[in-house]
Amino acid sequence: MSAGTVSAASGPAGPAAAAADLTVVVLAGGLAYERDVSIRSGRRVGEALKAAGAAVRVLDADASLIDALAADPPDAVFIALHGGSGEDGALRTVLDLVGVRYAGSDAAACRMAWDKPNAKAAVRAAGLATPDWVALPHSTFRELGAAAVLDRIVDRLGLPLMAKPAQGGSALGARQIRTATDLPDAMISCLSYGDTVLVEPYVDGVEVAVSVVDLGAGPVALPAVEIVPSSGVFDYASRYTAGTTTYHTPARLSADVAARVAEVAVRAHSVLGLRDLSRTDAIVTPTGTVEFLEVNVSPGMTETSLLPMAVEAAGLELGEVCATLLRRAAAR
Ligand SMILES: Nc1ncnc2c1ncn2[C@@H]1O[C@H](COP(=O)(O)OP(=O)(O)OP(=O)(O)O)[C@@H](O)[C@H]1O
Ligand SMILES: [Mg+2]
Repeated sequence: MSAGTVSAASGPAGPAAAAADLTVVVLAGGLAYERDVSIRSGRRVGEALKAAGAAVRVLDADASLIDALAADPPDAVFIALHGGSGEDGALRTVLDLVGVRYAGSDAAACRMAWDKPNAKAAVRAAGLATPDWVALPHSTFRELGAAAVLDRIVDRLGLPLMAKPAQGGSALGARQIRTATDLPDAMISCLSYGDTVLVEPYVDGVEVAVSVVDLGAGPVALPAVEIVPSSGVFDYASRYTAGTTTYHTPARLSADVAARVAEVAVRAHSVLGLRDLSRTDAIVTPTGTVEFLEVNVSPGMTETSLLPMAVEAAGLELGEVCATLLRRAAAR
């Protein structure tokens, strides 16, 4: 699969009519840490779909949702929820119960992909490179003594390291560990966002995000986005404060490496049984190895998010792409 070979299904009437007969609910908000990001994603997707001609309602994932969907079912739902229920499969299980179709991966695939250690194990088993890792729950540190366990992690994985919550997003809780003395604080930071911490070697190189969409001809990688945060760290502030990060789309990679990066993203998407759209985050090392970091089943869709940048770089319209995914979902 190569980048730039995607075409959205805009009918003969042109982009403005691409979603003229489509009734859509965009889900945004939720109670996860990324609520604010989700609201921004939902607004962007909702506006793009409206511009494409769809009838759009933006709903929160709250106690009124099930009744609202049952009373007035849309053709399909676009899930712009990040973190927690939006990505772990729980909400999708409920949508299945209600009998409402949605764009994106099914509940079982989300459950697998959302958990970083699970996703890493699956892509490694499929032959992709991903940094070695150790994932442990809070209880292990408490029961066996944090210092002794952390010593063994450093002995095994070396330094520097990256610690992050095993589940989550937007780099919340994630910490770089340069010396062993950074470890306790990093653990506390991660464990404040979830029960399990993932520790892996810090990989130097070029960070890329590779979106994958399936507009009907199988999963295809969009142009990779290269991420250069001016602070040196792609943390929450670098992600959502305009101007703090430079994005190069397509990434400044040789044709050879760009093809490999695209192949890794499509392969991760397929190995994990993902559907419609995903975004793989990876680091290209100075020797050209593509190290898989994680995959997102509900990629950010805000003004500074990576998937919309890739869509634009591929010469596509976000509203048309979302409408095509929703139309495919409605037909399932
Ligand atoms: N092993 C690593 N080596 C170097 N940097 C890393 C490593 N793992 C993560 N990072 C950095 O930390 C950031 C957050 O990590 P990651 O993408 O795995 O988690 P996330 O919080 O789920 O992100 P997202 O919001 O993209 O879902 C990455 O964008 C990258 O800049
Ligand atoms: Mg990421």
